[in-house]
Amino acid sequence: MAKVAFLGLGVMGGPMAGHLAKKGHDVTVYNRTGAKAEAWVSANGGAHAATPREAVKGATIVFACVGNDDDLRSVVLGDDGALAGMENGAVFVDHTTASAEVARELAAAAKDKGLGFIDAPVSGGQAGAENGVLTVMCGGEAETYAKVEDAIKSYARACRLMGPVGAGQLTKMVNQICIAGLVQGLSEGVHFAKRAGLDVEAVLDVISKGAAGSWQMENRGKTMNEGKFDFGFAVDWMRKDLGILLDEARRNGAKLPVSALVDQFYAEVQAMGGNRWDTSSLVARLER
Ligand SMILES: NC(=O)c1ccc[n+]([C@@H]2O[C@H](COP(=O)([O-])OP(=O)(O)OC[C@H]3O[C@@H](n4cnc5c(N)ncnc54)[C@H](OP(=O)(O)O)[C@@H]3O)[C@@H](O)[C@H]2O)c1
Repeated sequence: MAKVAFLGLGVMGGPMAGHLAKKGHDVTVYNRTGAKAEAWVSANGGAHAATPREAVKGATIVFACVGNDDDLRSVVLGDDGALAGMENGAVFVDHTTASAEVARELAAAAKDKGLGFIDAPVSGGQAGAENGVLTVMCGGEAETYAKVEDAIKSYARACRLMGPVGAGQLTKMVNQICIAGLVQGLSEGVHFAKRAGLDVEAVLDVISKGAAGSWQMENRGKTMNEGKFDFGFAVDWMRKDLGILLDEARRNGAKLPVSALVDQFYAEVQAMGGNRWDTSSLVARLER
């Protein structure tokens, strides 16, 4: 088992780091808000450090799961950043959902210091992290990926190298594109069923077994009908992801009219006070 470091103990990072510890890895953690790192050590063992640079000392793999591109730069670069403390040959694995551009930028900075870099965004949400069944989409060199795959599998059901650095983030963008339009469609279905005076749960129960069935319908249909959104994947995070993929589409010429529209719908949900609501709250916009 390896000596590893984990930077960012949020909803996702905390349980992911916990699975590494349970597998027997020697884990040192860093979190911007130190109290969370102390609580993590009390629950999981290992050690915590005051800066990313200190946390990565002697680690063969350094994992991170923070918020956005700038948050990531702040834990990787600079005097107290991870790259300043990592030892030759070590690999940085980034689980943040970020841009492909920042992945390429940080991979180049890592390479200059003799370090590896894998972009490795995840899908599966809080429950996937807690139960260790995430899907992980990776970008980077095959040789580098081979050094980290086993450790990632501590909390993943599926982990796959998709191509060169940035390919993991690009795959995650496809994931979010597929979800955005689908959740709006599901919202319209639930909304229509209510207006039509149907038993919404019965409708979802029967149509989920046919061609309209989806993960979102199975896992969110009931709570959408009940108007419950205080859990799950926050609208603020989805807007970040849509911003990233719409920027990328401007560069590669992909046409994403529905994703762009749904992004605006989410802006309206934010204006309703729904920043931390689950993304299924698109239906609340139709029912206000
Ligand atoms: N939640 C989900 O269902 C889900 C699913 C798939 C992917 N993701 C992605 O996973 C990433 C993390 O999500 P999460 O739900 O775990 O978020 P979260 O609970 O808000 O945690 C964010 C973590 O990043 C740290 N952080 C943020 N900005 C920082 C900065 N400037 N410097 C240092 N640390 C910083 C936070 O530290 P503090 O504790 O000090 O705030 C916290 O540890 C995001 O990119 C998100 O899009 C989330």
